[in-house]
Amino acid sequence: MDPLSRAHALATTAYLVAAVLFILSLRGLSSPETARRGNLYGIIGMAIAILATLTLTGPQPNPLLIGSIAAGAAIGTVMATRVGMTQMPELVALLHSFVGVAAVMVGYSLQLADPGDERMFEALTTKTLVEVFVDVWIGAVTFTGSVLAFLKLRGSVSGRPTLLPARHFLNLAMVVGSIVFAVLYVRDGQTWTLAAGTAIACVLGVHLVAAIGGADMPVVVSMLNSYSGWTAAAAGFMLANDLLIVTGALVGSSGAILSYIMCRAMNRSIWNVIFGGFGAEPPKSSGGPAQPQGDVQDIDHQTLATKLLESKSVIIVPGYGMAVARAQHAVRELTEILRVKGVTVRFAIHPVAGRLPGHMNVLLAEANVPYDIVLEMDEINSDFPTTDVSIVIGANDIVNPGAEDDASSPIYGMPVLQVWKSKLVVVNKRSRATGYAGVDNPLFYKPVTRMLFGDAKDAVEKVVTALRAG
Ligand code: TAP
Repeated sequence: MDPLSRAHALATTAYLVAAVLFILSLRGLSSPETARRGNLYGIIGMAIAILATLTLTGPQPNPLLIGSIAAGAAIGTVMATRVGMTQMPELVALLHSFVGVAAVMVGYSLQLADPGDERMFEALTTKTLVEVFVDVWIGAVTFTGSVLAFLKLRGSVSGRPTLLPARHFLNLAMVVGSIVFAVLYVRDGQTWTLAAGTAIACVLGVHLVAAIGGADMPVVVSMLNSYSGWTAAAAGFMLANDLLIVTGALVGSSGAILSYIMCRAMNRSIWNVIFGGFGAEPPKSSGGPAQPQGDVQDIDHQTLATKLLESKSVIIVPGYGMAVARAQHAVRELTEILRVKGVTVRFAIHPVAGRLPGHMNVLLAEANVPYDIVLEMDEINSDFPTTDVSIVIGANDIVNPGAEDDASSPIYGMPVLQVWKSKLVVVNKRSRATGYAGVDNPLFYKPVTRMLFGDAKDAVEKVVTALRAG
């Protein structure tokens, strides 16, 4: 066997091992107990995949390739160490945009390859032309869509949905235009037809993501995650790289399943997300975030501590504010004290609490809160009427009763945690400001609700001190 065939055979075997490790990784990531192991499988799989790919580039390592990998690894390490947990969705959206732009570049490098360059040039058959167009088109939609999602999540542009009156017609026109340029490109292989298809895809990406916003953003991010997977799979076909096809399909399908699960959890239609606000009504209110309406009643740390000690059953609802304040360790301490005193304490986790899927589960696991007292919304929502005290820590949209009874609310229809059904609700946040969706929360003004204003870590620590003293 000549050295090149041997390298190919070795790389194919290594790819198979890497693909199995990626599948094990996804399986591991499905539960907090096995998530670390899942991550480890993913890291080993990716290391094997990179090494195997390097062996295919020739007997001598390509300095340009090594330099690019080293620069990418250095930037990735700095980003991963610096990024805060609450900025993770922005980072994920940005990384999706990299996948999109990489796919576009690979497509164009094949299209524009110099016929004299033996390594790059490949006579473009009909099959390759289809692959190039599909890869570049999905890559461009993913790229611009992800950049806009990044800007929305970062707050650089408004998170509200932009619903143009003729948006469905525009989407349809862009899809038809893309098909026309795809046919022309596959027939003649001319660069301008590919460029026209790319330009349409770039506009489509922006338009699809612009039409969705507010509380529906998590679904957009997981949908773009899925698109980035399909982009990678299309690039795999173009480059005849089996591992890229398998990995792309894994990312594409797991992202699609996650989007479906999140859509179901939020009572939204998946088609609405895919077709950019299809069936969605323009928001009834306009302008900035809603102003608080009504009077609130306060509670102090000492009184809350007393109420907690008198209660039999407590439910804690964590949200984005707990992550910002890094209050999870104080919350675990509070839980431990109450459990020692014989109070039943459980956590209620909303599927979109925080800013990324599983955000609260990760934080509570980091603080060593036992998994068996952390329950999903469906498991615990019917228990609020028999609960003495519900403590909402830095959560807002996910406990907004307007989602159930205010048809004009942008979050109407989204299932929420029904904390107001418990005997007492204590909401901890710093002010009466709105949450991510920018809507006022009638929970604050209910007779059963008391507000514990202040930073979550500080407030919970003070309650812990009061409990210890009591
Ligand atoms: P939000 O509705 O965003 O409310 C968080 C609340 O935390 C804010 O109202 C804020 O009020 C309070 N807060 C901020 N810093 C605080 C601190 N240091 N101490 C105490 N409170 C603090 O959060 P949620 O209830 O978790 O709902 C999540 C929202 O984000 C949903 O609308 C969801 O759709 C969206 N979203 C979710 C995801 C995923 S995948 N989970 C991704 C993107 C968007 P103050 O300023 O008054 O303190």
